Amino acid sequence: MEHAYINIAIIKYWGKKEFNPYLVPTTSNISILCNNLYSKTLISKSNEDLFYLNGQLQNDEECKKIFSFVDKVIENRKIKLKIESYNNVPTAAGLASSSSGYAALTKALNKFFNKNYSLEEMSKISTIGSGSAGRSFYNLCAFDSYGNIYPIKTDLNLAILAIIVSRDKKKISSRNAMELAKNSKIYNKWLKKAEIDFLNMKKFLKSNNFEKLGFLIEKNTMLMHSTTISSNPSFSFLKKESYEIIKKIRKIRKNHKINIFFTLDAGPNVKVIYQKNEEEKVLKLMKKYFDKEIVLC
Ligand code: PMV
Repeated sequence: MEHAYINIAIIKYWGKKEFNPYLVPTTSNISILCNNLYSKTLISKSNEDLFYLNGQLQNDEECKKIFSFVDKVIENRKIKLKIESYNNVPTAAGLASSSSGYAALTKALNKFFNKNYSLEEMSKISTIGSGSAGRSFYNLCAFDSYGNIYPIKTDLNLAILAIIVSRDKKKISSRNAMELAKNSKIYNKWLKKAEIDFLNMKKFLKSNNFEKLGFLIEKNTMLMHSTTISSNPSFSFLKKESYEIIKKIRKIRKNHKINIFFTLDAGPNVKVIYQKNEEEKVLKLMKKYFDKEIVLC
């Protein structure tokens, strides 16, 4: 079994520039690895191509998607495979991420076919399946708009938890959403701002400035989500409850003088970033103010 953790972006990846042959994102992004949530994948020989997720055989569409990735990684494949993947993400908590899935699958293919790829190579290869997967190979990771993926450092001990708003599968894939967002009238603004955010975030990480880092996470998240709201057709991953939680997070931060900040991805669940040494206090506050499932990421 090969395993990989999910990652959550603190500067978002939101747009594909090209595949060359690996993904080059439109804007540079940064993520944190989540050591509590992972995927495990096992590959074995089979009479037909099969893909199981958490013990359940997946439908044709899902199988096709996975094996189209396999065939891009392993050219002229002569044998059929059974791919068994498990996520430890709390069942259908709406946090399941393609990042850990494709990262673990890339590692499993590397092992099964004795490819001896380096970590750097596997990280790039996995982006063919999912852009965010490339970042699941490093703790704190930068993925720049030239296609480079590399680890970065900070002395901050960052931690993330998720407040679960919905368990439903997203109605629009991040792949389609990113394409749609390109027709938003603020997409050019996003391209410019995200690149500046990336440079500033690197600076704040290096200087261990958690407060500045936190406010930037929120700004970057909201601009990313504005690109979908202002696209044609307009849509949003966020629900009314997501906005209510955001408002409360800001209030808790102010009233309790505690540095907690929010971020949101391709779904309505709100993620909260804080410093590990404040976890106990943060958890108490989350339980006090939110009548929702809380998942430590
Ligand atoms: O790689 P994907 O298709 O899971 O896209 C990830 C997109 C976001 O989660 C919204 C942002 C990010 O950088 O992870």
